Amino acid sequence: MRTTWDFTGTRALVAGAGGIGGVVAGELADAGAAVVVLDVDEGNLARVASGSAKGLCADLTSADACRAAVDRAVDLLGGVDVFVHAVGTNDRRPVLDTPDEVWERITSVNLDSAFWLGRAVGGVMVPAGYGRIVYLSSVSGLLAHANHAPYAATKGGVDQLMRVMAREWAACGVTVNAVAPGYTETDLTREYLAAPGVRASLESLVPAGRLGRPADLTGPVLFLASDAAAFVTGQVLYVDGGRTLV
Ligand SMILES: NC(=O)c1ccc[n+]([C@@H]2O[C@H](COP(=O)([O-])OP(=O)(O)OC[C@H]3O[C@@H](n4cnc5c(N)ncnc54)[C@H](O)[C@@H]3O)[C@@H](O)[C@H]2O)c1
Repeated sequence: MRTTWDFTGTRALVAGAGGIGGVVAGELADAGAAVVVLDVDEGNLARVASGSAKGLCADLTSADACRAAVDRAVDLLGGVDVFVHAVGTNDRRPVLDTPDEVWERITSVNLDSAFWLGRAVGGVMVPAGYGRIVYLSSVSGLLAHANHAPYAATKGGVDQLMRVMAREWAACGVTVNAVAPGYTETDLTREYLAAPGVRASLESLVPAGRLGRPADLTGPVLFLASDAAAFVTGQVLYVDGGRTLV
């Protein structure tokens, strides 16, 4: 496949083999990186894994599992230069109808894993004096979408986690940034977008007139993962067709 990027010699770890993580991992591999992808879903891993992208199955909802997954990935890659966090889950319901287990599952997958994996990866990158970390945040980290309380809280949390990591590691050659998509067509949104009237109503909120596609995220993520972004850190890059302008 043709790519505008050159990641030859780069060792990349991508957590999340779904719609967005899958295309990002594929693009990094096409650009010459050695890639390890983590996910709990064997089917998604199988779709992404190829000659240059290796899949590791892991449920990333505990600190031990995250530590072990990063250790295995670093062993396989011989280090880690790029880390992309693209695992996520959602369950859309009003605050008053959100049970404890939904709150706990969403915060664990979206935010706890962001801390546990980021801390483990940072522990390798900081002593090495080089690293590029990119978190998948969301426009809902900024906007108050109804029926998104746990999800929005985790994305606001990811933005702040990212900023503190960026500040602590800036002097060590490690940049930490986030990419924040608007509604993008993946498994995370498929069922919701199929409900009557939802797609048209969401599209009407996007100045560009359409929802996002996973491929819309590859350029922004790979830019932040590249040396071209060496002096960019602690930033949230919105990739939303203008959704946050209105
Ligand atoms: N699709 C969107 O509209 C959208 C919008 C804004 C932000 N995002 C964010 O982008 C990222 C990627 O989302 P996506 O759209 O590709 O969704 P997706 O559902 O296609 O992929 C998410 C992946 O996370 C994996 N995952 C879930 N729980 C896990 C666990 N416990 N351990 C390991 N892996 C687990 C899933 O198996 C899946 O492969 C997420 O952080 C999501 O919040 C997505």
